[in-house]
Amino acid sequence: MKERSSFTSRIGFVLAAAGSAVGLGNLWRFPYLAAKYGGGAFLIIYILLAVTFGFTLMITEIALGRRTRLSCIEAYAKLDKRFAALGWLSALIPVIITPYYCVIGGWVIKYFAEFARGNMAAMAGDSYFGDFIAGSGSGLFEAPMFWFLIYVLLTAAVVLFGVEKGIEKASRFLMPVLVLLSIGVAVYSLTLPGSMDGLKYYLLPDLKDVSVTTVLAAMGQLFYSMSLAMGIMITYGSYMKKEDNLEKSVAQIEIFDTGIAFLAGLMIVPAVVAFNGGDASLIRGQAGPGLMFGVLPKVFGSMNMGGLFGTAFFLLVLFAALTSSISLLETVVSMVQDKAKLGRKTATVVSTAAILLLGIPSCLGYGPLSGIKLLGMQFLDFFDFISNSVLMPVAAIGTCVFVGHVIGSRFVEEEVESSGEFKRKRLYQVMLRWIAPVMLAAILVGELLKYFGVISI
Ligand code: PHE
Repeated sequence: MKERSSFTSRIGFVLAAAGSAVGLGNLWRFPYLAAKYGGGAFLIIYILLAVTFGFTLMITEIALGRRTRLSCIEAYAKLDKRFAALGWLSALIPVIITPYYCVIGGWVIKYFAEFARGNMAAMAGDSYFGDFIAGSGSGLFEAPMFWFLIYVLLTAAVVLFGVEKGIEKASRFLMPVLVLLSIGVAVYSLTLPGSMDGLKYYLLPDLKDVSVTTVLAAMGQLFYSMSLAMGIMITYGSYMKKEDNLEKSVAQIEIFDTGIAFLAGLMIVPAVVAFNGGDASLIRGQAGPGLMFGVLPKVFGSMNMGGLFGTAFFLLVLFAALTSSISLLETVVSMVQDKAKLGRKTATVVSTAAILLLGIPSCLGYGPLSGIKLLGMQFLDFFDFISNSVLMPVAAIGTCVFVGHVIGSRFVEEEVESSGEFKRKRLYQVMLRWIAPVMLAAILVGELLKYFGVISI
């Protein structure tokens, strides 16, 4: 068998895994959740969960991948035949997510292109976003399908070049630029008149905001943001060098992921509050999935240099999204390669074609196909719900039970210790066996209750 590809260095691995983690979740989802759940309180809970819960799940997956040197379908099957289905389940998740993630990626390129060509005034209009995703404009550049196609091709181009020459190279360039842009945009946002009220809202915790729903929302977000429970970290772990320190790498990925989410809030919350004339209370009402595509263009439209700010912002969102969709596609490609015994090129072409086909319903779901609903949702929302709210918690519970109670946490501990000391080992053992599965079950139940309208998170 051919030798497995690998990242050339620890930093290459950390940047690529952080690239997967840092994505639309950090830039689009985190700020609106933080705004909705009271800023500071959400932030503190999120950070506490990242270093305990997130850490446990991430180090487990990376260690599984590195120790077995297999992608997720094979890793579980090889360790215990009875758990083969868990591998398949984890493998199914990126197949569901990649298509719709690329649809949103296409929207991001469209926004970047429009800001760059100075079309800001039109974008600040009330119905711009709704009209665009419904495909109501005429002409190629108004078609969401066009931008979806471009986005998928960009992602596929990187994956085609492989782990070292594609993914690692792209991450080494995109991630530092992303950090610089994020800092620049956040600093500018803080100079806007009225932004200080937003900063206070974002940073100062208010005990009133601490509740079960805040914790549940933070947990769900963390889980998505760290790209857990879908085979990605297993796949990337399988490309990691044996001698590289695992615990340190996980800590760095977490700092990256949480740091960029924090900066995203710093870019968006103060700017929106400044736009609202310094009234921090209004933002809770604006905080929802439409914050980035609907509210932000208006905020940019009202600023001096808003065009530049908007262009830089959507460029950084694009970079963040790309490194994530690269990891998603790579996970699919690596499975196709292993299972169908295909070369990387053929596997990439086949997978890309499948993603394009599968993405069509999500892409057209707000326009021509809007009459069709699944469980009462548009295609994109449906795929998002099924993967994030249902399958991911189930797969993660399975992994905790599998490693914590079936093969035993020694399997992971030995792998971590083979490349350095395992400092958070006690914490890890307790989290993995008992606390994480319970937390995951709470996420799952919370999501289902939300779906059935019993609670509103
Ligand atoms: N972690 C990514 C983010 O924050 C999302 C993602 C989800 C990436 C699924 C890959 C797979 O956007």
